[in-house]
Amino acid sequence: MYQHLLITSENGIQTITINRPAQLNALNKETISELSMAFRVADEDQAIGVILLTGQGEKSFVAGADIKEFVSFSIAQGGELAYSGQESLFNLIENLSKPVIAVINGYALGGGLELAMACHLRVAATGALFGLPEVSLGLIPGYGGTQRLAQLVGKGRANELIFTAGMISAEEAWRIGLVNHIVAPEDLLNKSHDLAKKIMKNSGSAIASAIIAINAGFTTGVNGYEIEIEAFGKCFGTQDFKIGTSAFIAKEKPGFRK
Ligand code: COA
Repeated sequence: MYQHLLITSENGIQTITINRPAQLNALNKETISELSMAFRVADEDQAIGVILLTGQGEKSFVAGADIKEFVSFSIAQGGELAYSGQESLFNLIENLSKPVIAVINGYALGGGLELAMACHLRVAATGALFGLPEVSLGLIPGYGGTQRLAQLVGKGRANELIFTAGMISAEEAWRIGLVNHIVAPEDLLNKSHDLAKKIMKNSGSAIASAIIAINAGFTTGVNGYEIEIEAFGKCFGTQDFKIGTSAFIAKEKPGFRK
């Protein structure tokens, strides 16, 4: 069904692998469109609780937007590229109702790092390299990188990474809070699955509400505290609230996902 993606599922954990290793998994138009479709399908699928996003091969997670595709673009086409990418994929992932974990197996550059930053969590292999090299191409990050990098690591560090167009190691990315965990390459998938399994023990509807409330705090013109109050109240009407609280009272483990 997909030309540039491999998709597998196991016990409610879906793995989406970007499969263009000869181009270091660079994001061309088709790949972005297929990813958008795959995430929308996964969001609707009741059987899926957590999504892992990774790149095929040992070298690269994603080495950026496909430079070869936009070399002759005009101002209008450039603006449209960023707008449609942000709307159809990057914002979609950030606001998905299920946690998405970026499993960073190698280069996460430009649009690749932006993709990882749109995910809710990041697990990286030692040896992975991170950077936003756009200014070395006469561009700036256009898939949310100027915003999300500053949110994750602070404005000063974001300024440095963007202005120098340099690469940082996985260790440095972990030290500054850009990734949640670093592990040996051979442990990357296991570690990511372990994290997904921990998440899967909890209420899917509550996690979906937490995503809405957390993201509200980063949305201009929206009061995150008010959204939290509203989302908190709504939890009391869910089946998962009944399951979770009655299991607590009965001193049992809650069975949220049957
Ligand atoms: N867009 C399009 N193609 C890309 C790409 C990108 N972002 N990144 C890598 N590729 C392609 C290369 O053009 C090459 O294709 P070819 O064999 O048809 O020439 C192939 O992937 C392998 O890359 P190569 O550069 O030969 O590998 P390397 O090990 O020498 O270097 C990188 C790896 C990541 C340092 C280098 O590919 C690079 O700088 N890529 C661009 C990173 C970037 O600027 N991203 C932001 C884009 S906005």
